[in-house]
Amino acid sequence: MNFDELECERKLLQAELDSKKTQEERNIMGQFSTPDTLARDVLTHAKNIFPKDNKVLFLDPAFGTGSFYSALNSVFPHESIEIATGFEIDEHYGKPAKKLWTRTDLNYHIADFTNQIPPTEENKYNLVICNPPYVRHHHIKELKEQLKEKALEAANMKVSGLAGLYCYFMAITHPWMKKDGIAGWLIPSEFMDVNYGKAVKEYLLNEVTLLQIHRFDPSDVQFDDALVSSAVVWFKNKEPEDNSTVKFTYGGTIDNPENEKNVSVSILKKEKKWSRFPLSEEREESNEPKLSDYFTIKRGIATGDNKFFILTRNQIEERALPLEQFRPILPSPRYLDTTELKSDDNGYPVMEQQLFVLDCKLPLDEVKRIYPNLYNYLEEGIRSGVSDRYLCKNRKIWYAQENRSESLFYCTYIGRSDQEGKKPFRFILNNSKAIVSNSYLILYPNSKLEKEMNKKPQLKELLLKALNQITGKAMLDEGRVYGGGMHKLEPKELANVPATLITSLISD
Ligand SMILES: C[S@@+](CC[C@H](N)C(=O)[O-])C[C@H]1O[C@@H](n2cnc3c(N)ncnc32)[C@H](O)[C@@H]1O
Repeated sequence: MNFDELECERKLLQAELDSKKTQEERNIMGQFSTPDTLARDVLTHAKNIFPKDNKVLFLDPAFGTGSFYSALNSVFPHESIEIATGFEIDEHYGKPAKKLWTRTDLNYHIADFTNQIPPTEENKYNLVICNPPYVRHHHIKELKEQLKEKALEAANMKVSGLAGLYCYFMAITHPWMKKDGIAGWLIPSEFMDVNYGKAVKEYLLNEVTLLQIHRFDPSDVQFDDALVSSAVVWFKNKEPEDNSTVKFTYGGTIDNPENEKNVSVSILKKEKKWSRFPLSEEREESNEPKLSDYFTIKRGIATGDNKFFILTRNQIEERALPLEQFRPILPSPRYLDTTELKSDDNGYPVMEQQLFVLDCKLPLDEVKRIYPNLYNYLEEGIRSGVSDRYLCKNRKIWYAQENRSESLFYCTYIGRSDQEGKKPFRFILNNSKAIVSNSYLILYPNSKLEKEMNKKPQLKELLLKALNQITGKAMLDEGRVYGGGMHKLEPKELANVPATLITSLISD
């Protein structure tokens, strides 16, 4: 059997089959194949940690065209592979892939893996390698309850309703593994930080022996967007021992990472954000001040439809809409190139293109009576479906924004770090009455800080400087990374960022 030739055929097949599906269809079924270099990297590592004299009993429960099976055959000696089994739900990939591999010993099942009954002990597998479907939770609505039960029964994993299909896959595969069997899962690394990932982390710490988590460097261009924020999680199906450690690696390849660090399981049990490893040290229990000691942090307003609700001054004037029913609002961080905003006499920010958000609290009949032009504009919104959008529909008055007062301090909420070490977040001092949308976080000074600012008018500039001196790393330790190197920070996460500089400013 020439596996190199089969791999060439497989790659062509993969490209052909992918091209016949839309991106949306592939999203719904989690159909993003593993690049061959990565599949090889994964199987090479599997071989390094797999017991030397054991025969391989291989399972890939989300097989696709079989990038892992192909890599298995190019990395492991043929005679060491005793059994190989794959499941694939979609005939579109399943049928041609099954045909491709008929000349090999692969057992290929075109079936929903989550509905299969786990095998008896002697038929279980000792090497599971899988890139499970990363289907978001809202696409598996009808299946959730069943899947939850299965995950609990199979692996004692209490999966949250917000978890994607890949979490259930990991749990449901558990009873397919032989004792001491090895598993390598290529999954989105966000499980390391987000709330729904807790169940996966508990499984990895309590039900199996977690060996290694490797994360790729998001700026590494070798993978496309679907994979840059992925992690490969390695574990052994064995009860965990006390005092064991887990290897966290980052960048480079799994076997030759750019950074690595061993972290004890006891630390992992306490740490909510596993993505801080290996680049950051263990969190020290500290009494050091945090931003939450000085600010209440909230997200900016979510309008429900920025295009409809946010207008330029020109647009408002052209339609003769009443400016008093609008509030000034800052443009998205992308279009804001300053860290300090001055105010004009009306409290509007001094900038070339002023923007305003419609925020009218009057009932529709009153709008009709007092502001006929605004009424016509709202009618347009109704006709074009704005009032039916989720956020609008769930408001008492669909065109009234949530109550959020403006603040002196804002922070850009989503950012991309670049290779020059540019900070992915930015604080802004706002002297105007402008509010911000939810692409910013709002920092409301607490009464203690307000008092200090009243005593010392220049303090706000100093505060801005201190906030912008917080290192990108301190911020990223609290935030999370998404695909394409995007960083995100939730209000609670920003609240946890150390604020030592602010304390020293105030004690001065
Ligand atoms: C992320 S892709 C990985 C494919 C392949 N193993 C690879 O690494 O290139 C996940 C695959 O799982 C399949 N899949 C989705 N739901 C499934 C299910 N319930 N049972 C079996 N396969 C499923 C998808 O059709 C897709 O081919």
